[in-house]
Amino acid sequence: MNTLNPAESAVHPASEPATVLIWDAPVRVMHWLLALSFAGAWLSAESERLHLVHITFGYTMAGLVVARLLWGLVGSAPARFTSFVRRPAAALAYLRSLLAGRAEHHSGHNPAGGWAIVALLGLIAATAALGWATEIEALPGWLDEAHEVAANALMVVVVVHLAGVVVGSLAHGENLVRAMVTGRKRGRASEAIQRARPWLAGLILISVVSFWVLQWQSAPEPSAVSARALHDNDDDDD
Ligand code: HEM
Ligand code: HEM
Repeated sequence: MNTLNPAESAVHPASEPATVLIWDAPVRVMHWLLALSFAGAWLSAESERLHLVHITFGYTMAGLVVARLLWGLVGSAPARFTSFVRRPAAALAYLRSLLAGRAEHHSGHNPAGGWAIVALLGLIAATAALGWATEIEALPGWLDEAHEVAANALMVVVVVHLAGVVVGSLAHGENLVRAMVTGRKRGRASEAIQRARPWLAGLILISVVSFWVLQWQSAPEPSAVSARALHDNDDDDD
């Protein structure tokens, strides 16, 4: 059980509620790299000149999703899918409690947030795979727009995710964004994870930055890119 009832939170009425370590360092690093890469992929999406930047962020997101899926199987308890992917009925019950103004507190992800995370990870994988298929021109004509459609669906779920973070923070009087930075949330000592595993987070960060550096080094000279853009424009004129 990971809900706190009012009686328990009233044990220390005068003091700040106790916080414990819930999110390990790999979860936090993967999250912020995902958020950064999403912004990067989105901002570079329309530019021919920034195409390598776009696909670099896209592949980074694909790699992070694979890493997060593995971590969801073997990682610390709150990071595991078994701890936060609950029956849809549990998600509905949580949303009802939220609407009634007495939202159940969860030290990990709440059951509605859990489904948003599944949607985010699934849509990232689909968007990246369709982007790659567009890149190698493997899609039949009727699927031309599929990458863009998936990217737009992902943007919708990201907006829902951000709204959920704001609503959840207000409903529980707990800054969830700060918790995703520090790893600490309100909870019982028995719910705390024992190890933050910063070395694994460091390894993930080094792998991602090394990939970015390799991509940067493989980038064509700017003159070659503008020549390609010119050539593409010539083709358009034909
Ligand atoms: C500045 C923008 C963002 C903020 C402030 C933010 C904040 C958060 C917070 C506070 C959580 C934890 C929610 C909880 O306590 O249950 C979370 C989880 C998550 N967010 Fe975001 N988020 C942002 C952008 C994104 C983007 C762009 C994506 C993906 C495209 C994303 C994907 C996820 C995922 C997959 C999780 C689950 C974390 C895990 O268990 O690994 N977030 N986010
Ligand atoms: C998962 C993260 C990704 C996001 C959020 C994303 C998003 C987008 C968006 C919004 C566009 C603009 C569509 C338009 O208005 O024309 C676009 C275009 C494109 N992206 Fe991505 N993308 C991602 C990953 C990738 C990857 C991994 C590749 C290739 C390996 C890729 C290849 C392309 C190509 C070739 C285009 C131009 C063709 C088109 O318009 O469909 N993208 N992407």
